[in-house]
Amino acid sequence: MTPANVRVPAKINLCLGVGPVRDDGYHPLATVYQAVDLHDEVRATAREDGQITVAVHAELDARTEAADVPEDDDNLAVKAARLLRDRTGVDLGVDLAIRKVIPVAGGMAGGSADAAAALVACNEAWGTGLSRAALEVLAAKLGSDVPFLLHGGNAIGSGRGEAISPVLARGSYHWVFAMAHQGLSTAAVYAEFDRLNVGSTVADPQVPDALLAALRAGDAEALGGALSNDLTEAALSLRPELEDTLEIGIEAGALGAILSGSGPTALFLASDEQHGLDIAFALGSAAGCADVVQSRGPVPGARLS
Ligand code: C5P
Repeated sequence: MTPANVRVPAKINLCLGVGPVRDDGYHPLATVYQAVDLHDEVRATAREDGQITVAVHAELDARTEAADVPEDDDNLAVKAARLLRDRTGVDLGVDLAIRKVIPVAGGMAGGSADAAAALVACNEAWGTGLSRAALEVLAAKLGSDVPFLLHGGNAIGSGRGEAISPVLARGSYHWVFAMAHQGLSTAAVYAEFDRLNVGSTVADPQVPDALLAALRAGDAEALGGALSNDLTEAALSLRPELEDTLEIGIEAGALGAILSGSGPTALFLASDEQHGLDIAFALGSAAGCADVVQSRGPVPGARLS
């Protein structure tokens, strides 16, 4: 059987507006996603006996905590394969091999990325031929960020993050990511958000006009000033040392600095590659920072490679 290989990017949220918790436990979001050049790879090899297996490889274990990624039915890539199989009625199995580069529990949607990649890879390996639109419907069932990771580029996310729509954007941006020593659970950060907001009224979330204007103009400096994240206080409450990381990047001249999604990865906008190097060098002294990576965005979503 010919294996299908898929490359899938990480995501960042240029803004992350979070509303009051819904009855189903999720929070309404108003976000702008950007896919960035930090890729996982998923290889799918069909098997006749119907079994679904997964193996996870990481070259940089310290950064990706690959040991924390389940190699059983809890793996989101396995869930994606099962969902596609149920939807199409195919009776084949698959061996999934994941090469992890995106930090685990880093606020960059690493698990969701693998699920998006597994959908595309299995669709190819099994010859099930679902359209991109049909895959997006399955993606939304797997997790809030999965539809965007199929899509890539820049997009507005609403609902619980799964409803994506186009955004007018130009320019390519230089990012520096500070990876933390230990991941943070997304659910725990949202729970802390709720705890901190007990007794206060949380407004419905909105994408800031200044951010949309900066993206339309391709203006990195304006974009840096417009970055925002409503989960900051909750993530810093769980990981106070991240405040130091953000400050070091700002002192090094970053155009903007926020946590990525629910954290703990911190992201910094640089004006060019050399500026990114300066910021990366300064972050080397941050106690909460395990590794620093330079990256570019936007990039395409999950694609056969
Ligand atoms: O959708 P996903 O499985 O990625 O979300 C992980 C967890 O993050 C959810 O179980 C929920 O606790 C929290 N979450 C949320 N509101 C969102 C997205 C995620 O509360 N919009």
